[in-house]
Amino acid sequence: MTVRAFRGEIVSVPHDPATHPDPVRHEPDGLLVVEDGIIVARGAYADLAPLHPGIAVETLPGLIVPGFIDAHVHYPQMDRIASHGEQLLDWLDRHIFPAEKAFADRAHADQVAGLFLDELLRNGTTSALVFPTVHAHSVDALFDAACKRNMRVISGKVLMDLGPEGLADTVETARGESEALIRRWCGTGRLGYAVTPRFALTSSDAQLHVAGALLDAHPDALLHTHLAENVRECAEVAARFTNAIDYLDAYDRFGLVGARSVFAHGVHLSDRACARMRESDAGIAVCPTSNLFLGSGFFDFSQAARHGLKLGLGTDVGAGTSFSMLHTAGVAYQAGLMRGHRLDPFRALYLATAGSAALLHIGDKVGGLLRGQEADFVVLDPGATPLLARRTAGADLAERLFALQILGDDRAVAATYVLGARVARA
Ligand code: GUN
Ligand code: ZN
Repeated sequence: MTVRAFRGEIVSVPHDPATHPDPVRHEPDGLLVVEDGIIVARGAYADLAPLHPGIAVETLPGLIVPGFIDAHVHYPQMDRIASHGEQLLDWLDRHIFPAEKAFADRAHADQVAGLFLDELLRNGTTSALVFPTVHAHSVDALFDAACKRNMRVISGKVLMDLGPEGLADTVETARGESEALIRRWCGTGRLGYAVTPRFALTSSDAQLHVAGALLDAHPDALLHTHLAENVRECAEVAARFTNAIDYLDAYDRFGLVGARSVFAHGVHLSDRACARMRESDAGIAVCPTSNLFLGSGFFDFSQAARHGLKLGLGTDVGAGTSFSMLHTAGVAYQAGLMRGHRLDPFRALYLATAGSAALLHIGDKVGGLLRGQEADFVVLDPGATPLLARRTAGADLAERLFALQILGDDRAVAATYVLGARVARA
């Protein structure tokens, strides 16, 4: 058995501050005791240290927080981040589909998957729900790379039989390849499977029906797709699905709206759709840097709060402009203000950790730094840059967290730990 102990200032937000009376856990001088990657004790150093005599303690300077959980990100788009000039549908045609075609080559997929996961870890992200490409081996490449790094990664072959030439599957390959991937990977390491129709516009009705059947057959799988992101996309969905009440209903008719459904964006949602999401316990991965970059709009946090929607936070790289969940949380605050909502820094940390974990149904395992959970954590350095150091000197916890979200990024991640082992260092 490997036993490790870490001493430092520890903060986590295991519960949603929007609804929970006591959401934050904070030890100014805390101790985290880890056995074989699992947290077996957490508390004040003065209380816990006497209970663990003789244990070797590593003191970590800075702020220990849970590893970040990116609830929506595309690994094949890493090399197309910062592609200039278009909104969603034109951006897909001009920049993204050509890049994804290159993943027909397994060696290319292997190379990008490794670089992508290393970039997540460098940014303090230890778990993620990831879009690969339509190619089944793009999932194998990602899962192989995740296993090598012991990371908690959820993914699944993209379904897109109406996609462009060279990037379209069929109803039959969607079913057969998804089933084979689930058989191959289920129960391996820390991996999970998500049935992943790209979005309503790139799947035929028959393929959306297959997605619903896959979910029925595999109750542990998530549903992962895009929803109501961009105005022109919404208009095209309305034009095609003339019988649907709204965009969400186009998915609902195929059995794709349920407690394990993760919808990226949801910028343009009707109150009816929000009510239906709440009723079904589906949730949204909010992706503010992407929404700005593609001119999609600003997520309506107030509407989501009115309906009690389950939310997580995603970078959505490559439409998202940063791998940093700190930076993404800072932009979420600014996007919120655009629609009259003041996102609290503790709630922003919740969304980037335990909120995303709950959305991805891994909240029992990660996100809260609680006893019994896996020891994925990050050491943040509030003095990472001269400006951060000045702004956070003498500041209280809420101010330091907010400064890290507004001014911080990968530079503020001093170290990342997966299952209690250091995997990245500034
Ligand atoms: N909608 C369908 N595909 C995509 C994609 O790759 N990125 C984003 N942001 N939205 C999408
Ligand atoms: Zn996306």
